[in-house]
Amino acid sequence: MTHRETRRTVLLATGAAALAAGCSKYGDSGSGSGSSSAHASGGQELAKTTEIPVGGGKIFKDQKVVVTQPKQGEFKAFSAICTHLGCTVSEVSGGTIDCPCHGSKYRIADGSVAGGPAPKPLPAEQIKVEGDSIRLA
Ligand code: FES
Repeated sequence: MTHRETRRTVLLATGAAALAAGCSKYGDSGSGSGSSSAHASGGQELAKTTEIPVGGGKIFKDQKVVVTQPKQGEFKAFSAICTHLGCTVSEVSGGTIDCPCHGSKYRIADGSVAGGPAPKPLPAEQIKVEGDSIRLA
């Protein structure tokens, strides 16, 4: 009796370990069939297109993303984390995304550095515009 239970416990533990190993090894490859459901719920709505001013943008601090609309109907998204020392940018004004910490500025059209100590552009983020809704891709 005890012997049997021990065997079962060992089998269960081994099975769980194998499953865990399988997940971590193949979970990110994207070739499996089970990963699409996780992505479907990742398309969180950030904003309505009407919330993003033309020639300006809006910062989403929780998501650490800034969405801009350099031209009517053209939406871009960038990381809201300054590439200088990692502050979150605080304002979009006069065609630039501005960091409050040491004055770095990034262009709303492409995230490139327009001024200040930032060593490189803000990385682009993927968004999807569906109707009047802007979602993280
Ligand atoms: Fe943004 Fe220094 S952290 S300018």
